Amino acid sequence: MLVIALCKGRFLEPSLNLLARTDIRFAEDIASSRKLIFNSENARYRAVLVKPADVPTYVEYGAADIGIAGRDVVLESRADLLQPLDLNFGHCKIAVAGPKGAQINGSDHPTIRVATKYPRITLDYYNSRGIPVEIIPLSGSIELAPLIGLADRIVDLVETGRTLKDNGLEILEVIAESSARLLINRAGYQTKRDEVLNLIQGLEKVIR
Ligand code: PRP
Repeated sequence: MLVIALCKGRFLEPSLNLLARTDIRFAEDIASSRKLIFNSENARYRAVLVKPADVPTYVEYGAADIGIAGRDVVLESRADLLQPLDLNFGHCKIAVAGPKGAQINGSDHPTIRVATKYPRITLDYYNSRGIPVEIIPLSGSIELAPLIGLADRIVDLVETGRTLKDNGLEILEVIAESSARLLINRAGYQTKRDEVLNLIQGLEKVIR
């Protein structure tokens, strides 16, 4: 049996749709259930539901053989795992944003203050440019921070751009593109090779 870690939230429905197209189906309505573990109808797969940022951890440690998560959380986690497939949904950008017309490096403070739920990606970005930065870690509503004086800039996901626009902010620089990725535990790729390859091939057929 392969254990698949799926994200709660906006990735859940497209992930389940993708799996269904490769004939991996679940009898229960996963999206409306409060359970966290679900066996597939053919009993060859087990889905576990976790927070998006935790998917790489479950896969890296082998608690799940496979996971589906955004490239954003994989970059942030720095987890050591295989990423054989771009699953072609959940497209968005990881971007530096700030008030309209702002300079990328400008700040009223000696060190630029950047609010984000991606502290490692943000630190790497500013370190690589030699810009001193103070990271302000937040877990949501990141766009609020520059509006009420908590931060000069944000590093966040931009999908449609609507949240930025509605809050008078704009992209200053794109750090990376993101989309949903298939994640595979390194050891599981060896010990469950046939099952894993079978799943990869099934997914490849439906995402093309
Ligand atoms: C994400 C992200 C942005 C927004 C971008 O937040 O952090 O706030 O979506 O989407 P858009 O470009 O289409 O407007 P999410 O909805 O996950 O909520 P959060 O603020 O709790 O992180």
